[in-house]
Amino acid sequence: MVRAFFYPESVAVVGASSNPQKIGYQILKNILDYGYRGKVFPVNIHEDEILGLHAYRRVSDIPVPVDLVVVAVPAAVVPEVLEDAGKKGVKAVAVISSGFKEVGRADLEERLVEIARKYGFRLLGPNIFGVAYTPNRLNATFGPRDVRPGKIALISQSGALGIALMGWTQTEEIGLSSIVSVGNKADVSDEDLLDFFATDDNTRVIVEYMEAVKDGRAFMDAARRNPKPIIVIKAGRSKRGAQAASSHTGSLAGSDLVYSGAFKQVGIIRAESVRDAFVMARALAELPEPAGDNIVIITNGGGIGVLATDAFEARGLDLYSGPDLVAFKKAMPDFGSFKNPVDITGMADPVMYMDALRIAQEHENMHAIALLYCETAVCDPEELAEGIIRTYNHKKPLVVGMVGGEKTERAIARLNEAGIPAYDSPEDAVRALHALYLWKEGKKKRQMSGSMRSS
Ligand code: COA
Repeated sequence: MVRAFFYPESVAVVGASSNPQKIGYQILKNILDYGYRGKVFPVNIHEDEILGLHAYRRVSDIPVPVDLVVVAVPAAVVPEVLEDAGKKGVKAVAVISSGFKEVGRADLEERLVEIARKYGFRLLGPNIFGVAYTPNRLNATFGPRDVRPGKIALISQSGALGIALMGWTQTEEIGLSSIVSVGNKADVSDEDLLDFFATDDNTRVIVEYMEAVKDGRAFMDAARRNPKPIIVIKAGRSKRGAQAASSHTGSLAGSDLVYSGAFKQVGIIRAESVRDAFVMARALAELPEPAGDNIVIITNGGGIGVLATDAFEARGLDLYSGPDLVAFKKAMPDFGSFKNPVDITGMADPVMYMDALRIAQEHENMHAIALLYCETAVCDPEELAEGIIRTYNHKKPLVVGMVGGEKTERAIARLNEAGIPAYDSPEDAVRALHALYLWKEGKKKRQMSGSMRSS
């Protein structure tokens, strides 16, 4: 059970230090400052007090049960720390330290696994930046202190990229339920984490940055039994990239085509980039499944309407062209076009947009809506955002693409805050809707391959 990494009632940090230059100091400080409500114990061989807390020499000296131990001491001493923690009966250990399989010390890494098995605790890492779980206000990482709470769980095999993504998701206002650094995956595997997030009520979408899978079959099985969208950013597409991935975490990257084929089989969505992953994740975290294929574009700009049309076509999606599009006539000046893309013209104000949005929501044949906007003086973007928030009934998917200046940027942030996926380009809005269709397809594949295996 990996639950103790996310719901520990107490956490000990071995290698906690009063020196702000040390990773052990940063981890302890993050745990305290982010607002974790359980018990926290610094462990240090020569200090009695760290950051105002009593420090213990060993985990086994702590007088109450300890669920999670975060270890940030040099690799050579990690085995003895784990032995001591094992004797204490801890449930989970996250080993931050580097210096194992990734540098040719598979023997030392194996030793850690043996100790974990002997005492029955789970081991995350080694060679990781830690774990954060926002519903519990737990940030046991040496990344940034603040993690924006949300519904996306992020699993990262890369440390530095994972840490960078902690900061990036914060500025991009992407909410996370969790961030887990998996590093060398000596014990806790992708499969363990997929299984945990499968039943975690705080997580709707799982995003994984992956360089290599350790056990392909087990990973596929875990994906198959997972009811949630899984988006994978698989690095090492190129030959050189694959070699770099192998020296990074000490695992084999494998053929890229094999990965792509396997992902498809079990309905995993492959992202083209980190940004692409979160464009999709945002939509999958917030929006309902489209009931059918009929997409409607509402726009005040012919140009972005055409760009979006091209992008839909490139993604293999068609725009709706049924006779009831004529209903949009009511929501536009005479010179507007009710043919899809529905062009309510540069004269459009928030009232026209809301009328058009209502029409798209009411018509059963229209299954998904892309609302596009170019900043104009006659339609204040922030007013438009408030109008959308008031009008959208969340029954069919709606994505918003807005192009403009600072006010538009604020409008996008406001929409995202309100749970309406909004982007600063028509292409991203299209990709977001595309993700819903990919997942609809993927879910079917997952169910089919699941039932084939069980029959
Ligand atoms: N029990 C308790 N405390 C111990 C200890 C033990 N067995 N051994 C050492 N300590 C103390 C040290 O005295 C020190 O405290 P101090 O600052 O008060 O003296 C603290 O724990 C840290 O030990 P130190 O030897 O100073 O190590 P460090 O902080 O320089 O480095 C690591 C430790 C884990 C950060 C380093 O070895 C490492 O692996 N760095 C890479 C981490 C990384 O990049 N991970 C992957 C990220 S994706």
